[in-house]
Formats: sequence, structure tokens, C-alpha cells
Amino acid sequence: MRAAAPGGFLVLPWPGGGGSSELEPGEEGWGGLLRCGAVLGVTLICKSVAMLRKWIAGGVCRCSVRLDGKTVLITGANTGIGKETSRDLASRGARVVMACRDLSRAEQAAEEIRRSTGNGNVVIRHLDLASLYSVRQFTKDFLDSEDRLDILINNAGVMMCPRWLTEDGFETQLAVNHLGHFLLTNLLLPKLKSSTPSRVVIVSSIAHRGGRIDFDDLFFSRRPYSSLDSYRQSKLANVLFCRELGRRLQGSGVSSFCLHPGVIRTELDRHVKGWFPLLGVLLSLPSLLLMKTALQGSQTSVYCAVMPGLEGRSGRYFSDCAEKEAAPEGCDDVVAKRLWEESARLVGLKDTC
Ligand SMILES: NC(=O)c1ccc[n+]([C@@H]2O[C@H](COP(=O)([O-])OP(=O)(O)OC[C@H]3O[C@@H](n4cnc5c(N)ncnc54)[C@H](OP(=O)(O)O)[C@@H]3O)[C@@H](O)[C@H]2O)c1
Repeated sequence: MRAAAPGGFLVLPWPGGGGSSELEPGEEGWGGLLRCGAVLGVTLICKSVAMLRKWIAGGVCRCSVRLDGKTVLITGANTGIGKETSRDLASRGARVVMACRDLSRAEQAAEEIRRSTGNGNVVIRHLDLASLYSVRQFTKDFLDSEDRLDILINNAGVMMCPRWLTEDGFETQLAVNHLGHFLLTNLLLPKLKSSTPSRVVIVSSIAHRGGRIDFDDLFFSRRPYSSLDSYRQSKLANVLFCRELGRRLQGSGVSSFCLHPGVIRTELDRHVKGWFPLLGVLLSLPSLLLMKTALQGSQTSVYCAVMPGLEGRSGRYFSDCAEKEAAPEGCDDVVAKRLWEESARLVGLKDTC
């Protein structure tokens, strides 16, 4: 079945054979070729999608440290990154306290985590970070009832909501994302100090880049409200708080780390979704491809919570399970110190560390 071509070359038969001529593909030959092409095309697409998904997933925490006998407190744990972080830490044997504002959603999540990890030591407590009263009540109960606190994860957050004021008169994003956590952490410090080595993990965002702390108008009382600028300000406050906390706690055995978790499909966009509903529907398919899952998004939080040997990096910023440079505005020690003092004044704390 080999034809000798002019010049002495061998011409191979067309796949599928049986065509009208050995040099030209017949109908069946074309069919075989198309089938081969289709299989090759689908394989290539699947491989590319798998490679893209792996790249989007980013860093993975491969540390297998156990947390038996340790206590972890995590805010905003009923959904999203917080829920997956809780699940991971529960699977390592920790007692996990899930601090949430909606107790029925929290109990649903906790029960799912107890079942999937086999760890019954997962409990829920009420905490509304938009209320200083609630933060104080929560910490009082926690300090009275818990023996130790090894890892505090400040995870809860709200993004780009309308300009709402909390019962304390604070703009909601700065109140929940920063001020509530600032008070919570400071009130829990005695327990963290008596459980050393212990860690504070603060979930910030790459959105701190380009943020600005406007000390003259923190709550957008005078300037026009921008939900994005407010989110950026609050996430920059997370990075600066982590930095100043790390500095103040040097040598105490308590370390602090902040992080960007990636771009993740969670409920965080709940306030943005309503703006362009049709766009939201159109983007839902690409987002499946291009955004991390909540499990993937929890990896850097878990890394900062459990990876041994990070103590010397206290105050630093992480992303994809590795230390990264924070934006220059997140490395300003003068602003960090001023923000600490202003935050302490706003939440009514006289004695801070
Ligand atoms: N998703 C991303 O792409 C992304 C990117 C960068 C940074 N982050 C950060 O990651 C963290 C977790 O976000 P996520 O994506 O997991 O969002 P999420 O699914 O919306 O979860 C946010 C959690 O925070 C809780 N929360 C909101 N306001 C609260 C309050 N006043 N008191 C107590 N808890 C409150 C929510 O409780 P409810 O369910 O009761 O509202 C929920 O449990 C946030 O700090 C966010 O800024 C996320």
C-alpha cells in the first residue's frame, strides 16, 4: 500500500484507507481525520483548562501540622473562605470557635464541618463586628469560658456596601473590616499572650493597594462616599494594623500576619451583584473558570495559621502561601502608628499593648 512518489519518496496511505485514490482522502478518510482532529482539539482544550485552573488556584498549604489541644477563633466562619478555613483547622484536631452574626447559618456550617471532619469540638458564638457592644460582650464570654487562644483569624468582611452607619456612628466597611477586629484583637490579647506561641491572622486584600487612610474624614462624612475607596481604606487598615501589631508584640510570643487570599467565588460581592444583574449572569460562567474556589481561597489563611517557623516574619503580608511585598502605602510606619492611636480612641480603648 505504499506508492512511490516521483523522486523516490514513499507516500503513506491516507488514514481510513479504502478511498478513491491512495493520494487523496476519500469520504471515510476525511471522517477519520476529522475524528482525530476533534479528539486532539478536545484533549488540548481540557489540558489547557486544567493548567489554567491550577494556575488560578495558586499556592497550596502542604503543611500537615496537627492542632490537637489548640483553640482557634475565626470570625465570619459561616460561609466563604472562613468556613473552609474552619474546616481545615478542625480537620487538624483544633477546637474551633466560629464567631458569626447569624447563628442559624453558623450552626448549619458548624454541623457540616463536624460531620465532614469527625471533629465534634466545633462551636459557634454570636459576634456582630458592626457593634462595639457585641464585640465587648463576645470577648467577655470568650475570656470567661475558654482556657486558651492559639490562633485568632480576623476573616469576616463586607465589601462595597452602600454608605451605612453602624450603631456606633461608624461607616460600615471601616467598622466591620477594621475597627471591630481591632477591638476584638486587643481585648483577646491577654489570652493570646497566655497561650504563646500564638498567632493573629488578618485577612486583607490586594485592594489595599491604592488605598488611603483619610484621617480627616475616615467615615466619608465630608467627601462623597465611594464604596470602593472605603473598601480599599479598610483593607489598607488591615495591613497597617498587622504591621503595627507585629511591631508592638515583638518578643511577646504572639505573631501577626496579614494576607491577600486571591480572587474567590464567595458571597463577598453580594452588594455589587444588584448593580448590573444581567452582567452578573453573563459573568457567572467565566467566573467558574477564572476565580478560586473557597477551599483554594482558604489556603493562605491556613498557611499563616499553621506553617512552622513564620514567627520571624511577624507583621508581614502574604499571598499564595508565600510572603509578598505589601504596597508601599501598607509599609508606612508613621501612618500605621497614627491609625493605631486613632482606632484606639474610636473604640474607647485606653490601654493597648
Ligand atoms: N472573595 C474574594 O475574592 C476576596 C478577595 C480579597 C479579600 N477577601 C477577604 O476575605 C474575607 C472573607 O470574605 P469571603 O470572600 O469569604 O466573603 P463572604 O463569603 O461574604 O464571607 C464574609 C463573612 O463575613 C461575615 N460578616 C460580614 N459582616 C459581619 C459582621 N458585621 N459581623 C460578623 N461577621 C460579619 C459574613 O457573615 P454573614 O454571612 O452573616 O453576612 C460572612 O460570614 C473578607 O475579609 C474579604 O475582604 C475576599
